[in-house]
Amino acid sequence: MDERKWWKESVVYQIYPQSFCDGNGDGVGDLPGIIGKLDYLADLGADVLWLSPIYPSPGHDNGYDISDYEAIDPRYGDMEDFERLLAETHARGLRLIIDLVVNHTSIEHPWFKSARSGKNDPKRDYYIWRDPAPGGRPPNNWGALFGGSAWTLDEKSGQYYLHLFSPWQPELNWENPLLRQDIYAMMRRWLAKGVDGFRMDVISLIAKPDDFSDGPVGASGYFDPRERVAANPKVHEYLREMRKEALSGHDVMTVGEASATTLEDARQLTNPSGDELDMVFQFEHMDLDGGETFKWNDRTIPLLRLKNVMAKWQQGLAHSGWNALFWNNHDQPRMLSRLGDEGEYREASAKMLAACLHMMQGSPFIYQGEELGMTNMRFTRPEQLRDGESRNAYRHYVLDGDIAKDDMLRYISLKSRDNARTPIQWDASPGAGFTQAAPWMDINPNHTEINAEEQLHRKGSVLSFYKELTRLRHMHPIVVYGDFVPYAQEDSRVFAYTRILDGEILFVCCNFTAQALDFAPPDGLQGENARLLLTNCADSAYMAESRLAPYEAVVILANGHSGSSSNKPGLPGGRDSFDGVRTPGKEKS
Ligand code: GLC
Repeated sequence: MDERKWWKESVVYQIYPQSFCDGNGDGVGDLPGIIGKLDYLADLGADVLWLSPIYPSPGHDNGYDISDYEAIDPRYGDMEDFERLLAETHARGLRLIIDLVVNHTSIEHPWFKSARSGKNDPKRDYYIWRDPAPGGRPPNNWGALFGGSAWTLDEKSGQYYLHLFSPWQPELNWENPLLRQDIYAMMRRWLAKGVDGFRMDVISLIAKPDDFSDGPVGASGYFDPRERVAANPKVHEYLREMRKEALSGHDVMTVGEASATTLEDARQLTNPSGDELDMVFQFEHMDLDGGETFKWNDRTIPLLRLKNVMAKWQQGLAHSGWNALFWNNHDQPRMLSRLGDEGEYREASAKMLAACLHMMQGSPFIYQGEELGMTNMRFTRPEQLRDGESRNAYRHYVLDGDIAKDDMLRYISLKSRDNARTPIQWDASPGAGFTQAAPWMDINPNHTEINAEEQLHRKGSVLSFYKELTRLRHMHPIVVYGDFVPYAQEDSRVFAYTRILDGEILFVCCNFTAQALDFAPPDGLQGENARLLLTNCADSAYMAESRLAPYEAVVILANGHSGSSSNKPGLPGGRDSFDGVRTPGKEKS
């Protein structure tokens, strides 16, 4: 078994502060609002809270453009509120991790203001500057993720600065040891306050490559530099230094956002010696519905490809790293709307998706509202959009390009980050219990039906299912530490796998369709030694008939040492009998 760690055994809940709960009646979520909901989060069974940025920011990227790493944006409260939040979180036995955004700052950060003041300024080298290409053009054809060139001209010095996201987010220069020391010192001060770790924003991109040459151009009109940047091995050096200088001596959790990372890199980033990160978010499964126009299309994620990608990461990091499991975050549309059913089977599919993810190996993340089965929004006017990425894409593809307005609004309603950022639906009142004022962003009209108040005391609600999932994780080591073995990997309707640990087997099968299906479990899971641990279907016929209801998820726990009527060798010696691809259903005849 892998070494036991509290962060492996934890369920993490992500809070996107401006949309979580408005405590002071200004239409924006804030720290007092979060404090008011801590009992709800403890009751859910969350172990760790991850706070998206709460620092002062001009707000060009909803707080991911930071102008002061060590203060609280007044929209959210002040440092006293933060300290109260931390103390109240700890008082409930939960931990709190904060967002560390050190790939870039805001242009309003004092470092950048100083750097911009002249070529000889001591902070100049905290950022990445290049002379123009001939004719005054940007130094290369790299594109910014939120549209346009990755370079902006600084008129005063005549040089360009690099920004992989928006022009308001200049890249920090990690080559500079002074910058790195400033960052580590800042982290030490947060740790001294008592935070329990960091979620590290686009950490795989901090080390820039030596090769700044042009690359192949995509539909955006630019080269997407992320792969080249993410491939720079120096990131490992920096993270090892960070571990030593900032984190050593603290029992904390680190999760890195590893955009464009490879399995090999992730293995090194999360290697069990713990000298870099504890776990990473990889995005291969999130990008399976992309295309030439980036995410702006109406493609869906093909289940077979999803299964292969998940199996690749599950097996690829087994005993050599650790996965962060997620279907949702503040940058993704709601998974329920992507792979589930927003209609008749909304609750069933929300629970099925949850079971499918939470029973895999890794630390599961719940993104606010996911535990209620919140869905995407229908955006009908570009004015409703708050995210710069969506607004720029609308401009690029509709106003300057050739995607029809209605099509683009449909794509945005399917894929935009705005879908994740609509306020949390606490109750059915006009402000959804989120605010009494005009909300900073439209509330999804379906809050009258989908909301926490309605689910809190309803047996069978999505919320109660999530509570059950967190409870199972805390009760059964196999859920945390069991080896993942894919099952029926060629089946395009059911996502199934087993987990194996110390003679126990956990079998998970999830029907991703709106049809009832016959689907046989592996041998040895049909006897009296097997018991149904969880299903999202009140009158499940699975144990009796191996029949899955539409969007049903089933979790069965079996003790491999007794009661098996098959001739298979005992488990875990019989472990091989759970490997490989079979076509369930056929075996019943
Ligand atoms: C990360 C954040 C995202 C932000 C970007 C730039 O991907 O999750 O919200 O826009 O970094 O900071």
